Amino acid sequence: MKILHASAEYFPYIKMGGLADMLASLTKVQAQSEEVYVALPLIGTMGKEPQWTGKEYKALLTEDTNEKTMAVSLLAKARFREAEESGVKLYFFDSELFVNLASIYGQAEEHYRFAIFSYACYALSQILKVDAFHAHDWHTAISLALQKNSSKSIPSLFTIHNLAYQGDHPFWMTGFLKEDPFRLVTSPFDHDEKCNYMKVGILSAGQITTVSPGYREETLTEPNGFGLSYVLNKRKANYSGILNGIDPDEWNPESDKRIFQTYNLQNWKEGKSKNKEELYREIGRPNLPLDAPLIGLIGRLTYQKGFPTFLQAFLERRHLPHRYVVLGSGDPETENAFFHLSDTMPDVFYFYKGYNESLAHKIEAASDFFLMPSLFEPCGLNQMYSHAYGTIPIVSRVGGLKDTVEESIDPKFKTGIVFEPNDVGSLGYALERAKDLFVSLDRDIVVKNMMKLDWTWKKRKLEYDNIYKSAIERLQ
Ligand code: ADP
Ligand code: GLC
Repeated sequence: MKILHASAEYFPYIKMGGLADMLASLTKVQAQSEEVYVALPLIGTMGKEPQWTGKEYKALLTEDTNEKTMAVSLLAKARFREAEESGVKLYFFDSELFVNLASIYGQAEEHYRFAIFSYACYALSQILKVDAFHAHDWHTAISLALQKNSSKSIPSLFTIHNLAYQGDHPFWMTGFLKEDPFRLVTSPFDHDEKCNYMKVGILSAGQITTVSPGYREETLTEPNGFGLSYVLNKRKANYSGILNGIDPDEWNPESDKRIFQTYNLQNWKEGKSKNKEELYREIGRPNLPLDAPLIGLIGRLTYQKGFPTFLQAFLERRHLPHRYVVLGSGDPETENAFFHLSDTMPDVFYFYKGYNESLAHKIEAASDFFLMPSLFEPCGLNQMYSHAYGTIPIVSRVGGLKDTVEESIDPKFKTGIVFEPNDVGSLGYALERAKDLFVSLDRDIVVKNMMKLDWTWKKRKLEYDNIYKSAIERLQ
């Protein structure tokens, strides 16, 4: 089967969050048995220089170009440049709309830029004549409406990674979608009097998935549907939840080149202790005690991730022996609060503002616990990375977190600590349980349970295969 994915992120070229990791790891496994292509934008700052093959493809179909609109002339000048990565063919969209961007999101004119990119992805799917077209999140959703309207429509799948970001724009900004090369009737995409790209994807795709069964359930009602639960309910029969997988070549304490010392199920205690010692040295806090629990936190500092709940719980439970290492950037108020703690309580708290892939691995390896206080979490990857690194996840009971972490009373089945979302008391009590677990004999059992878990794509790749089959059957 030939599959074309369309995405704004792909690790290590463009990464803002889990989408990049999810897609790179999924396609790597798919490429073992299928022909896998990924269309993504070429921006000014890439995480890695692509391995170009020299082949190029058009981004515009001649049948869509009766009028000479601005979009038509931009697409005529643009092209896809082919590159290869781990058996996957990457098609970088080389267009003046993207090529000077320093980062992929948060720039002006996103409504236009991502619509143009979406058209290009649709055109590429037609040029490559793929068997299945798989678009991710709102940035590529317009391609699904084009696919649906096409006389040569290709079976399609839309994966929702996060309903909090929908790409909704006032209609006065999206009039261009009615013209060439799009030719769309946009009234069905109205949500709150705006053209909602996420809604376009949900209504147009043959099949829809999201990144965990738990999140699928949550999004069918409000507030977790972020206003779109009514549209998801309409498509409920074609809407599934498939848990993300992780890449054991990237996230494996036994072979990880970014950590200070590799370790495995047999020597995790010594391995973690060495990593903790070296991490403390690297962050300039060599005197922090190795026998006190270290809790790691990494993430985008946004509303979703629930850091203010943590901050309150932390202040209430200052008597606990825990040390904290936090890596992230985002909301300035949260950043300031973390800086303040890092300055005023240096023997307890350390904050690194920014994005740092290597430090993220070091924190996973060094920490005894990993805290994810999310208010909602479509899947979440760090709890699975934590399992692999023998780092006990402390997570809120939401979405993919509750699907992957089990706080059983029986230590044989325990794989973490779970608390109620947005609940300072519950999070505080979870921190108390972490203190007890750290010194209990059960800790060894729990760490072994976790390190034996298999969160790779093996099984879930098959679930995607079935969805592609359903999309193909729908079109027959
Ligand atoms: P989301 O996609 O909502 O951000 P996920 O848990 O799915 O959440 O994935 C986040 C990914 O991004 C993880 O691999 C995490 O380690 C990484 N990450 C987030 N913030 C940072 C940061 N500041 N530095 C390094 N890696 C980060
Ligand atoms: C989103 C979600 C996260 C998920 C990731 C990859 O960014 O916030 O929970 O793991 O996508 O699917």
